Amino acid sequence: MDIKIRQATAEDLTAITTLFKDTVTTINSKDYNEKQITAWASVANDTAIWMERIENLYFIVAELDSKIVGFAYLKKGYYLDGLFVHKDHQREGIASALLRTIESQVMIEDFPEIRTDISITALPFFENKYYEIIKKQKKNLNGVVFVNYIATKTL
Ligand SMILES: CC(C)(COP(=O)(O)OP(=O)(O)OC[C@H]1O[C@@H](n2cnc3c(N)ncnc32)[C@H](O)[C@@H]1OP(=O)(O)O)[C@@H](O)C(=O)NCCC(=O)NCCS
Repeated sequence: MDIKIRQATAEDLTAITTLFKDTVTTINSKDYNEKQITAWASVANDTAIWMERIENLYFIVAELDSKIVGFAYLKKGYYLDGLFVHKDHQREGIASALLRTIESQVMIEDFPEIRTDISITALPFFENKYYEIIKKQKKNLNGVVFVNYIATKTL
C-alpha cells in the first residue's frame, strides 16, 4: 500500500478532527470508560486549538489514495503530542510510517531523544517501536481522570 506522508494544512482541519473523534470513540473506547471517552472526544470540537497546532507545530498527515488516514504532531520539537490512525485503517503500518517521519524530524532538530504520552491503547504499538516507559501517570482532562504512560526513546 502506498502511504504518502505530508505536512498538514488548514484545509485538513475537518478531516483531522473527524478522524480524531472517530478513532477515540471506536478504538480507544476499548480501554477507557464512557465518561473518559466523551471528555477525550470533545477535544475535537475545539477547532481553534487544532488550527493553531496545524499552523504552528510540526504536524503531518498520512494519506492513502488522497484520503487522510492518520496524523501526528510534535510539540517543542521533541514531544510527540498526538498520533492517531483512522478507525478503518488500523494495523496497516500507517502509524509506523508517521512515526518514522516524526523521529527523523526530531533528529534533524538535533534532539537526543523523543518523548510522548502513551494511551493504554497505544502501549503495544510503542513497545514494538522500542519506547521505554518512564512512568504511569494520571492526567486530568476537563475534570475527568485518565491513566496513561510517559515514554521516551533515545534517537
Ligand atoms: C496506536 C495506533 C496509533 C497504532 O496505529 P497503527 O497504524 O494501527 O499501527 P501499525 O500498523 O503501524 O503497527 C505497527 C506494529 O505495532 C504493533 N501494534 C500496533 N497496534 C497493536 C495492537 N492493537 N495490539 C498489538 N500490537 C499492536 C504491532 O506489532 C504492529 O505490527 P503488525 O501489525 O505487523 O503486527 C492506533 O492503534 C491508534 O490510532 N490508536 C488510537 C489512538 C491512540 O491511542 N493514539 C496514541 C497516542 S495517545
